[in-house]
Amino acid sequence: MDIVQQLTEALGADCVLTHDQAAQRLASNWVSAENLNCKALVLPHNTEEVSIVLKICNAAKQAVVPRSGTTNVVGGTHTQAHEIALSLERLNTIESVDIPNRTATVQAGVVLQQLQNHLQPLGLIFPLDLGAKGSCMIGGNIATNAGGLQAIRYGVMRNLVLGLEVVLADGTILSSMNHLLKNNAGYDLKHLFIGSEGTLGIVTKAVLKLEPASLSKNTAYLALSSFGQAVEFLNLAKQSLGNSLTTYELIWQDYYRLMTSPPSRHAPPLPQDFAYYVLLETLGFHPENDQKVFQETLEKAFESGLVDDACLAQSQQELDWFWGIREQVDFIFSVHRPIFLFDVSLPIAEMGAYVDTIRADLQKHWPEVFLYVFGHMGDGNLHLYVSCGQNDHATRMEVERLVFNPLSAIGGSITAEHGVGLEKKEWLHLSRNPTEIALMKTLKATLDPEGILNPGKIF
Ligand code: LAC
Ligand code: ZN
Repeated sequence: MDIVQQLTEALGADCVLTHDQAAQRLASNWVSAENLNCKALVLPHNTEEVSIVLKICNAAKQAVVPRSGTTNVVGGTHTQAHEIALSLERLNTIESVDIPNRTATVQAGVVLQQLQNHLQPLGLIFPLDLGAKGSCMIGGNIATNAGGLQAIRYGVMRNLVLGLEVVLADGTILSSMNHLLKNNAGYDLKHLFIGSEGTLGIVTKAVLKLEPASLSKNTAYLALSSFGQAVEFLNLAKQSLGNSLTTYELIWQDYYRLMTSPPSRHAPPLPQDFAYYVLLETLGFHPENDQKVFQETLEKAFESGLVDDACLAQSQQELDWFWGIREQVDFIFSVHRPIFLFDVSLPIAEMGAYVDTIRADLQKHWPEVFLYVFGHMGDGNLHLYVSCGQNDHATRMEVERLVFNPLSAIGGSITAEHGVGLEKKEWLHLSRNPTEIALMKTLKATLDPEGILNPGKIF
């Protein structure tokens, strides 16, 4: 029997959309307006149904591509006509919140924002924050080990997951729903699946670590003339603000100008002629004192010549404005297309010179090139958006070569947070050595011997 028929018989027709029905959906929530192309789109309601799907597909050696919020930017959910797409969107229940232990048990298809909204009246937060929060789902956040805008304080997804339920390639349900902060009983299996980009198993449920919701927020844009100031100011901010430092985003002038000039709807909070801008935010529990310490930190920075100008958010409206300038990155696509997006990781002190080198190299090849740079400086993670007018494979490879090659010498990584997916796999060898890659392939072959799970991603 044909695989789509088998799946339909096992799950019922409401769980299996045909190729044509699935094609009415978008393939991805990110930029590309292509329609979903797959043999069938399967929409299980629960873990048991995910297990049935994988059992059937494994027996038939049928490729399966998991998808949740589809905000992946490296082609991690890209699906082809011969592949089954498996959406976790119906597994969207927040099962429980344990207030004394500060944990939440949630299904993979819960949208990040949905979890935040659920926790708000309880005085708790799940401290992952990223621009795609309105559509990305917890399962995808786990599969990609998402980073985002508050990692400097709370860490990345790997630091925020306590336990997982995963369906393995052959349909086995692995329940590893640890709730404990400390549990050293053998290998910590969840880490195999976090960041595995859907290639080792399908995450269906998780126990997440929560934090108390803060009572104060202080947010400012700072303007700086040199990269050295940004490094020194980061040190000062860490020392002076301690654990309340939650966001330290650095923005290069080009991106700041783009995001604060028409057709962007944002006005510039500070003049546009500085070389760098920092979006700084603290979250705390002692509003009066937090504000005082924040202001004192900025005063110290002015006195020491580390910042040249500053502007503090005074209202929710100003907060939305400040954050919009940083977060609404997809605005770039309305101005420049095609564009290549990077999320490199590198030592903080090297960032200024690295970007200068890349800019000069790109300009040698494409005098008219646009390069926008910003990112999570506090985490050693920059985003580069490169638009040189062309989109063919050779151009892409050349741009990638220019961006990635200098990273080896300074101990950087080709991807800090977006993962490898389809787009970065040709460069994996720059960030992982042959022994590491060989062990990754051994793990893949052990957990997914038929190679059905998200084939062609990462390797
Ligand atoms: C961001 C995405 C691009 O930080 O990772 O905006
Ligand atoms: Zn990012």
